[in-house]
Amino acid sequence: MSSTGEQGGGGGDRRGDGGDRFAALRARLLVDGLDVADLDADPMAEVAAWVAVATDAGIWEPTAMTLATVDADGAPDARMVLLRGVDGDGLRWYTDRSSAKGRQLAVVPRAAVVLAWPVLGRQIRVRGAVTPTDDADSDDYWAGRPHGSRIAASASHQSTELAGRAGLDDAIAAVEAAYPEGTVVPRPDRWGGYRLTPERVELWQQRAFRAHDRLRYERDPSTPTGWRIVRLSP
Ligand SMILES: Cc1cc2nc3c(=O)[nH]c(=O)nc-3n(C[C@H](O)[C@H](O)[C@H](O)COP(=O)(O)O)c2cc1C
Repeated sequence: MSSTGEQGGGGGDRRGDGGDRFAALRARLLVDGLDVADLDADPMAEVAAWVAVATDAGIWEPTAMTLATVDADGAPDARMVLLRGVDGDGLRWYTDRSSAKGRQLAVVPRAAVVLAWPVLGRQIRVRGAVTPTDDADSDDYWAGRPHGSRIAASASHQSTELAGRAGLDDAIAAVEAAYPEGTVVPRPDRWGGYRLTPERVELWQQRAFRAHDRLRYERDPSTPTGWRIVRLSP
């Protein structure tokens, strides 16, 4: 089997298939392509299915996604977060809401996210409105985090300037002393989830010779599913 790189499909696998355990799956996806008829009527179900493919393939951090926001001046910003939930209501992630991204979302409550698995020749883009999740949701997620992660999140006021590493280590030690292992670390008010309600969702599948497939769900209340799917030039 030739590598997808030799087929002109993408960045290429310079090591050859022998060193690339994703090559066979990538090649199959590349040959299969994307067809509107094969997509789930619910784009979030389709996103969940793609995440499952990446997870089952053994990709490291398969839920890592780039989250793009804009600040009050309209300047874009982007960083990675972990996708922690996909359901009919949208995509969820968890963070410190007093962080740069939190402050940006408070002013412009809209975002774009990108999930990309280059080794599978796949990318998903989602845009939409963003709302904080409720306290019950944030509490649930917080309760499932390891004790050490709760300590660190409690001690760190994300995106604020530190004079040095010692400032963070001291803050962590102070929270640890107050809440030793076995005790409940309370969720700081500033820490919680966000939900992006999708307005459009694009699936990108690498095909040979850069003739890629791009299918985009767009909201359309006149259809039975509430979505229409369009094909875009690659
Ligand atoms: C793979 C990966 C996953 C990450 N996941 C999260 C996350 O789920 N939540 C979070 O607050 N930061 C996460 N981060 C750190 C963010 O990228 C970022 O540094 C932090 O949220 C501060 O961003 P801000 O200053 O733009 O608010 C992750 C970073 C990487 C590289």
